[in-house]
Amino acid sequence: MTTEKYDLIISGGMIAGPQGTQEADIAIKDERFAAIGNLADAEADERLDVSGLTVLPGVIDTQVHFREPGLEHKEDLQSGSLAAVMGGVTAVFEMPNTKPPTTNKEAIEDKVARGRNRMHCDFAFYVGGTHENAAQLPELERMEGICGVKVFMGSSTGNLLVPDDDGVGDILKHINRRAAFHSEDEYRLRERRPLAETGNVLTHPVWRDEEAAISSTRRLIKLAREANQHIHVLHVTTEEEMQMLAANRDIVSVEVTPQHLTLAAPEAYEEIGTFAQMNPPIREARHRAALWKALEQGIVDVIGSDHAPHTREEKAEAYPHSPAGMPGVQTLLPLMLDHMAEGKLSLEKLVTLTSLNAQKLFSLKEKGAIQIGNHADLTFVDLKRSETITEEWVAARCGWSPFTGRTIRGWPVGTMVRGTCVMWQGELTAPATGQPCLFDI
Ligand code: DOR
Repeated sequence: MTTEKYDLIISGGMIAGPQGTQEADIAIKDERFAAIGNLADAEADERLDVSGLTVLPGVIDTQVHFREPGLEHKEDLQSGSLAAVMGGVTAVFEMPNTKPPTTNKEAIEDKVARGRNRMHCDFAFYVGGTHENAAQLPELERMEGICGVKVFMGSSTGNLLVPDDDGVGDILKHINRRAAFHSEDEYRLRERRPLAETGNVLTHPVWRDEEAAISSTRRLIKLAREANQHIHVLHVTTEEEMQMLAANRDIVSVEVTPQHLTLAAPEAYEEIGTFAQMNPPIREARHRAALWKALEQGIVDVIGSDHAPHTREEKAEAYPHSPAGMPGVQTLLPLMLDHMAEGKLSLEKLVTLTSLNAQKLFSLKEKGAIQIGNHADLTFVDLKRSETITEEWVAARCGWSPFTGRTIRGWPVGTMVRGTCVMWQGELTAPATGQPCLFDI
């Protein structure tokens, strides 16, 4: 029998997977899982005892805005990815509404080069779909470091926008991978814009009402059917959309955000004003309850944070001049752990929503599960630990969170990316070695 010497053995942890939790040791060699089981007699250069901790497959956040290039006063790839690993996130998929937007080969190559060995976690980028680049998308969506196409059907931060059926249909006909959509009906948003009262953020979900999201998603599903194409609907916010999406599971996948699962109108706006402003909006409790129901029923595939930071000064402008979006990559896992402690979801479900399904939907290679051969990406959590979210803990450049002051049960205490511990007990423990994710396409 050959005895292999491992780089690292992690022992004593409870390993969480989609089928349940088991106590096992994990051996890592050359950045990958090499063995799982009882490894008491195995040899390794290093050992890490994680008794008392729960070990999750590395959490993947499939929707973040890290603002580089062009908007680095809000965030950049380094600061955003620091926030990610501080919150237990090992890989992020980043959005194209930067300046310039990520819509061509040069912009993609530039972003990948900026991320490499500068981001603290692994990464992929969405390429923005536009009227102009539809014919190039089949080539662009296959470039290294690209997780897929992102289309804004309603306008939000930046100027990426494809509001019309012809434009969306054209993109869907060209591409081969699952594309992700911001689904709000631009025509209805324009019509209702006068309903946004200056200085009154309570009118945000009145302006960008349920119907704007519902009618857009109805159109989108029809267009996807016509093109026979898979779609991923980002940050779904309404009960009615969930019913439609449930009836079309064969072609749609669904994301919800921790913000929409946690906050509700009008309280969120009353408590934190424009800091609760995002697109699509935080809506009343009936919708939040419907999102949880959809999550229980398996209609929700992934939790994405929609980490969308803006500076305090920008957010403090009078509504509706205040920009929409909140940071969230660092609080994604803490919030979901807290919901788990409240009994709202199981650990198995959490793992499915934060790693396994990201792998499946996007055909991500070598990540998403603790299995031999995969990258050794792990998130270590202490399910018993209570912590209060503070501004000091926030690593995002904007320095604020809509959730400061909230006490959370269950806390990420360690983040491992390809076998290297990059965060331990709230401290950065390794230089940035982020690499582009690979995909089976
Ligand atoms: O609230 C939002 N902010 N929603 C989006 O879709 C974009 C984002 C941003 O980039 O600020």
